[in-house]
Amino acid sequence: MNHQKQVWIILGTRPEAIKLAPVIQVFQRLSKLKLQVILTGQHREMVDQVMQLFGIKADRNLEIMQSQQSLEEITCRILQGLAKLFQEQKPDLVLVQGDTTTAFASALAAFYHRIPIGHIEAGLRTDDLFNPYPEEANRRLISQLSQLHFAPTPWSAENLRRSGVVGSIHLTGNTVIDALLNTSATQPDCNVPGLNWDAYRILLATVHRRENWGEPLQAIAQGFRQILDKFPDTALLLPLHRNPTVREPLKSILQDHPRIFLTEPLDYRELVGAIGRSYLLLTDSGGLQEEAPSLGKPVLVLRDTTERPEAVTAGTAKLVGTKTENIVAATSKLLSDPSAYTTMANAINPFGDGHASQRILQIVEKFLD
Ligand code: UD1
Repeated sequence: MNHQKQVWIILGTRPEAIKLAPVIQVFQRLSKLKLQVILTGQHREMVDQVMQLFGIKADRNLEIMQSQQSLEEITCRILQGLAKLFQEQKPDLVLVQGDTTTAFASALAAFYHRIPIGHIEAGLRTDDLFNPYPEEANRRLISQLSQLHFAPTPWSAENLRRSGVVGSIHLTGNTVIDALLNTSATQPDCNVPGLNWDAYRILLATVHRRENWGEPLQAIAQGFRQILDKFPDTALLLPLHRNPTVREPLKSILQDHPRIFLTEPLDYRELVGAIGRSYLLLTDSGGLQEEAPSLGKPVLVLRDTTERPEAVTAGTAKLVGTKTENIVAATSKLLSDPSAYTTMANAINPFGDGHASQRILQIVEKFLD
């Protein structure tokens, strides 16, 4: 008798949950494969929110999160936790997403147990090993361990060829667009106490990257304050990451300003609602660089490098770095020059068409057949 083939989707952080939610839904709806959703627990509340929103339940949870966790601790606890699960039962394929330490450690754990790996959102590169840190190394390492590479764009597929990976490369689009289109179809709104969306031009900001911890974070926050002082018709909405290393310095510089709204992390539906109603975005997040262009919002990227040059090439995103004066100059230009703004506010979708998850399912079924 043929045994029912088993696929494990392993995830641990918020962006993985968002980008894997449509994949999990499609596998559950359309496939006969047995799917198990495994949480590493790298994040807690921030993942719970997304799981609830998309109606997804985890089959197992390694519950590794600790306050101020180090990269070594995350990696070791995931390797040991998954080894135990793999000793009980071995899936026929493991799927990981992106470039977090969950994704890397899970791929390594699967490799040690000789389980094939499929990598969703494969082939993103900055070619600068420490930028973003540790994600550029994570995704390169995952590429070398995987047999199925799901590239979101032609450029990322080309990077994989250049990297000499084994296995097969498939152009699928990015599953974040599946999540975004499903969510924006439900007309999401975003209510923040005290914030009147119609009274101001709202700047939506997020900051969390490790390479921005410390001085860059402070320079970014000073930039935000200067922009608000220069443009009284603007307000800033900044959902704070749960990480205390990020939230404490931001709070100390930005709280107590009448037009700065610091909130807890928004749930994904509220976030999509907020993108739709904001004037422009200031962010170091990767996902927002993919989502905002689809909704026609300019993105100023608070980093020196990007692994998503498609949005820069298309003209909807600009790299501005983390220096206060550069952030103020680039934002002031968009706030005061309507033609510069209109040029960037293009609704384009260089990252996908909303059907990436179905393509991934078809390729996985063929691989396991
Ligand atoms: C991680 C990923 C990063 C991803 C980001 C998205 C790594 C190395 N980094 O960074 O690639 O862009 O997630 O958010 O994998 N915390 C909570 N509750 C939560 C989540 C986090 O309290 O639900 C706090 C904990 O104190 C934790 C800290 O945040 O120690 C940092 O979390 P961690 O997963 O180490 O790194 P992130 O900065 O979130």
